Amino acid sequence: MAKINSIGILTSGGDAPGMNAAIRAVTRSAICNGLKVFGIYRGYKGLVTDEIIEFKSQNVSNIIQMGGTILKTARCQEFRTAEGRAQAYENMKKHGIDALVVIGGDGSLTGARILAQEFDIPCIGLPGTIDNDLYGTDTTIGYDTALNTILDAVDKIRDTATSHERLFFVEVMGRDAGFLALNGAIAAGAEAAIIPEFSTEVDQLEQFIEHGFRKSKSSSIVLVAESELTGGAMHYAERVKNEYPQYDVRVTILGHLQRGGRPTAHDRIIASRMGVASIQALLEGQRNVMIGIENDKIVYVPFAKAIKNDKPIDKELVNVLHELSI
Ligand code: F6P
Repeated sequence: MAKINSIGILTSGGDAPGMNAAIRAVTRSAICNGLKVFGIYRGYKGLVTDEIIEFKSQNVSNIIQMGGTILKTARCQEFRTAEGRAQAYENMKKHGIDALVVIGGDGSLTGARILAQEFDIPCIGLPGTIDNDLYGTDTTIGYDTALNTILDAVDKIRDTATSHERLFFVEVMGRDAGFLALNGAIAAGAEAAIIPEFSTEVDQLEQFIEHGFRKSKSSSIVLVAESELTGGAMHYAERVKNEYPQYDVRVTILGHLQRGGRPTAHDRIIASRMGVASIQALLEGQRNVMIGIENDKIVYVPFAKAIKNDKPIDKELVNVLHELSI
């Protein structure tokens, strides 16, 4: 196996708080281990258009506390073509980049997997997404911060919901995964969560109404995961207006504010650990794996597993929400 002397690092897909902490960790750990580091701007786009500069330790000073990503991020159509990827490879060769660390969600890791297959480049992925939807890791960089942002918002919504005795549907992100909605609902003391994972199994609105809305409470908050599978918060508000017109219903869509803000301690720590682990993995000869954390231990998850498998929702969490929302 060829020796790795130099690595490239990029962030891709939706930004997530803690990405900067990960960039810092990868850069500094690589330098500590005698490797050269190149920062690649705007994700795979920068790899294709050659927006690549060498990073020293100072390039990542004073960023651990910042949300977003100093490397910027983009979705790149060109990289989806064979010509685009060939150009990306040429640019890597030009700078002498032997391996890549990619921070992002499933789309970003899919890109790394294809590049690795086509050009035999060692790639390591770090799970950077607020959605927490990557298989093989208990948590992803940005998820804890987004959860806390949701809590902050829902605590405020509760004040007005209680005062007006209203039913609020609060829509949260997650693409097609319900982790933010379910754990957000538990932490916020919400009455229910409507999540894509159960959208074909039961009528979650009916279940919530039957479970006792207004039996003992004059207001309620339901977190709805955005997704075509759930139909989103507006869909449920419309249904309530039509099917249960006695309720005074309102909708709040939290949107992209969930992606911003200073990363929590938890996200900074996992980003730092995963960043260091990515360099260890490369030095050990690992390739084409995502760094995960399971039971507080670093694990290596083959790309194929991390991307292709649906991460299951823990039924225990569903029960906790159910029992505590009476
Ligand atoms: O994957 C992160 C995420 O924030 C999802 O929760 C959301 O569905 C999507 O990205 C939004 O993407 P965009 O920033 O392109 O609107």
